[in-house]
Amino acid sequence: MADTDPIVWSSARGANVLDVDGNVLVDLTAGFGVASVGHAHPAVVAAGQAQLGVLPHAMGDAFPDPRRIELLERLAELTGLSHTILGSSGSDAVEAALKTARMATGRDGVLAFEGAYHGLSYGALAVTGYKTGAFQAPFAAQLGAHVRRAEFGGELPSLDGIGAVIVEPIQGRGGVRVPPPGWLAGVRAACDQAGAVLILDEIYTGFGRTGSLFAFQHEGVRPDLLCVGKGMAGGYPISACIGTREVMASWGASKGEALHTQTFLGNPVGSAMALACIDLVVNGELHARAEEYGDWARRRLARHGNLRGRGLLLGLELPDALGTSRALFERGWIALPAGEQGEVLCLTPPLTISGAQLEGFFDVLDEVLS
Ligand SMILES: Cc1ncc(COP(=O)(O)O)c(C=O)c1O
Repeated sequence: MADTDPIVWSSARGANVLDVDGNVLVDLTAGFGVASVGHAHPAVVAAGQAQLGVLPHAMGDAFPDPRRIELLERLAELTGLSHTILGSSGSDAVEAALKTARMATGRDGVLAFEGAYHGLSYGALAVTGYKTGAFQAPFAAQLGAHVRRAEFGGELPSLDGIGAVIVEPIQGRGGVRVPPPGWLAGVRAACDQAGAVLILDEIYTGFGRTGSLFAFQHEGVRPDLLCVGKGMAGGYPISACIGTREVMASWGASKGEALHTQTFLGNPVGSAMALACIDLVVNGELHARAEEYGDWARRRLARHGNLRGRGLLLGLELPDALGTSRALFERGWIALPAGEQGEVLCLTPPLTISGAQLEGFFDVLDEVLS
């Protein structure tokens, strides 16, 4: 396999991917952080298949179905936040959060951070601070002037006129950047003082990836709105913006026309798969596994460079992360560069990856970097 050849994925199971030519690769990205419980986990697949045969689609916001109700209750129980707007993608969750914050505060201003990645739909793109030259430039005139940007992990500007502060507890695509200890708590305090809504984007960090169920739990910081997606349903496109009763109440009672909805909102198959996936993470304590394996990686990879991140959201700083990624790919390992300059090799394997697979990766990386 040449490093420039694309592969066509044929099937995947656990951390393994089979391509149409019969090559088996190990996926150290978990499909961009989605397959936290492994690709095609049998329990998640069974939940989806069972639901498909009964009720594959219901009616958006108009009528709930039992799986959606269960999912909303489960999300409230796990997060301590009572109300949820479901969506299909991470960007959907961010859009819902930004709109909710505007409804709750009446203020247009949003503070976002350099290097942040919140998705590429228009609202989310406006707050994305990662590779703005590429992602934002063609659309800059249509992105509005409501966003102020600050340094991630740095001093906060005045929150005058700001209704929402949106932040990733650890920047993922931005290069696995961890803010200094206590910084997030400072952001929370500043929001409280200014009456701004704190939106935590845990689309990458949520559901066990960083060693706790949600990264905000490490920091003792409670968000007003929490965005989750990616690893929520083991491969089905579903996301959620979960918020406090107080902030979500700003939408008011329905007057017959939902102000924010989508055709596929709260899809029953996605809800059923999310419930199965969340059970696997919680009951299997996969967040503890992420912590343990993250510590192991830290010890084992220290010789190659600085390892950023927490749990199994890791970025190994390398002089040529792209070249390393290509060399790994030739040997059957999928790991992609991240960061503004592609400065880290990003490692977000399934939380279920086996010890033998991880050990195999450490060995192959030793070989590639020797
Ligand atoms: C932190 C974060 N927020 C939002 C998104 C956007 O999610 P999606 O691509 O599902 O719209 C991503 C995607 O990588 C992300 O990492």
